[in-house]
Amino acid sequence: MAGLAGKNRVADHGKHENDQKAGGAEFRRDECAPLTCCLNGRLKLYIIHGMDGLSGFTPNDRIRRMQTREARIGIIGMGYVGLPLALLFSDERFKVTGFDIDPAKVSALNAGGSYIVRIEPETIKKARGAGFRATADYAEIERMDAVIICVPTPLDEHSDPDLSYVRGTIESIAPHVREGQLIVLESTTYPGTTEEIVIPLLEKGNKRGLKAARSEEQTGFHVGFSPEREDPGNDVVARHDIPKVVGGCGPIAVELATAMYSSIFRRVVAVSSTSVAEMTKLLENIYRCVNIALVNELKQLCMRMGIDIHEVIDAAKTKPFGFQAFYPGPGLGGHCIPIDPYYLSWKAREFDFRTRFIELAGELNARMPYFVVDQVSTGLNEQSKCLKGAKILVLGLAYKRDIDDLRESPSLTIIELLRSRGAEVAYNDPYFPTVGRGRHYDLNMVSTPLDKVETFDATVIMNDHSSYDYRAIEEKSKLVMDTRNATKGIQSAKIVRC
Ligand SMILES: NC(=O)c1ccc[n+]([C@@H]2O[C@H](COP(=O)([O-])OP(=O)(O)OC[C@H]3O[C@@H](n4cnc5c(N)ncnc54)[C@H](O)[C@@H]3O)[C@@H](O)[C@H]2O)c1
Repeated sequence: MAGLAGKNRVADHGKHENDQKAGGAEFRRDECAPLTCCLNGRLKLYIIHGMDGLSGFTPNDRIRRMQTREARIGIIGMGYVGLPLALLFSDERFKVTGFDIDPAKVSALNAGGSYIVRIEPETIKKARGAGFRATADYAEIERMDAVIICVPTPLDEHSDPDLSYVRGTIESIAPHVREGQLIVLESTTYPGTTEEIVIPLLEKGNKRGLKAARSEEQTGFHVGFSPEREDPGNDVVARHDIPKVVGGCGPIAVELATAMYSSIFRRVVAVSSTSVAEMTKLLENIYRCVNIALVNELKQLCMRMGIDIHEVIDAAKTKPFGFQAFYPGPGLGGHCIPIDPYYLSWKAREFDFRTRFIELAGELNARMPYFVVDQVSTGLNEQSKCLKGAKILVLGLAYKRDIDDLRESPSLTIIELLRSRGAEVAYNDPYFPTVGRGRHYDLNMVSTPLDKVETFDATVIMNDHSSYDYRAIEEKSKLVMDTRNATKGIQSAKIVRC
């Protein structure tokens, strides 16, 4: 079992064992020392206590199975997070089963197909060849060494957390959970979810009467939380280079999760509880949300002052410390930044606490689509046209560049706002040939070819897809409203950077 606990709680494939200076790891190394002793002590304990009943595997066996790739990994939710994660494990020679309630996704995957643009069908086929399969049958949970949950955590109509997917998943898997299994929630949520919802529901629904093991001596299943940090469309940082934060409800949960994630991530950062892990993810996203709100506000001031905010940011980021660049835009999008902060503000109310930064940032960011629409109206006015009856082409439906995800996209809000003010709106997005009905919108539109640009009164650049030729777009447009600085370097009286 050498290397099972590692020299500290920052597991890293051994490659970075001495490279503990970056990213605050010095702190973790000191903090983790006591666990090392505790874990080393515990190894002997496992060997003395022997098998753990139903499955016949000791915790040491289970960790060894992770290391030798014999472990079976079940991933629940074959979406933007779960499917790439399944493929990472499959690449590392694990037998992976993907669970999803959407029969179309299950069939597509089993047929070697993909429904996410950046994942090629060949990648799915390769994984299928390596044993990856999809199912909707929760009874198969029993065969898994570890189960990772990646289901949606949206907001409800009152902007409160909607944990129905998490609850539904836990209730479905609870009867099948076996002794010694590791269950990890990856869905973003408020601190306390694992302890207050996941564990009680697992214990209540387990047909074997198992409980979560909270100490080395206790038997049962092991529960952890590990936030997903994927950044879709980011080709700069490889997924396995993003350190994985892990919190467990007991030491064995942490060890199992560390062993599992160490196989696909170069570095695993263990923290002292599931709540710390849950809060870590929220801090990361709130940090982004607040800083984006700040630059969105400064952009509006800079426009009034005749200063280019992008030039300011470019200059500020030359400072080698104490500044990180965030960029203004037309509003927040995606399944994370517009949603996650509200999970914390909701939870804070239970503690009679108001998260004013979060609320202010949310308010500023939510105003941005309205600001852009006002700017379009002003831009048309400068050309003696009015918004009512104007033909507007929106470029980019996705919430950010080069991805096929339009959840919470500000483009959808802007299209609806422009329409409500009497504009005739079309869109172009290479990732969405059509757009129909979603949770918050019902657009029913077809992507307009770019060779029609000149027939519109204004072109609104909502995201900076790299496939667009911005110079050609500027040349053909009558008016360009650029919310992303996509036309940087192009001098033209037709461009309004907003
Ligand atoms: N998309 C991202 O970039 C990103 C990044 C970091 C974290 N997250 C978080 O990861 C979680 C998942 O997000 P996503 O973007 O993958 O969502 P998604 O909607 O793309 O995928 C979720 C999948 O779960 C399936 N599902 C729902 N309920 C289920 C159930 N009971 N059993 C089995 N499958 C079920 C859905 O059919 C869907 O395929 C969310 O909490 C999100 O906040 C997402």
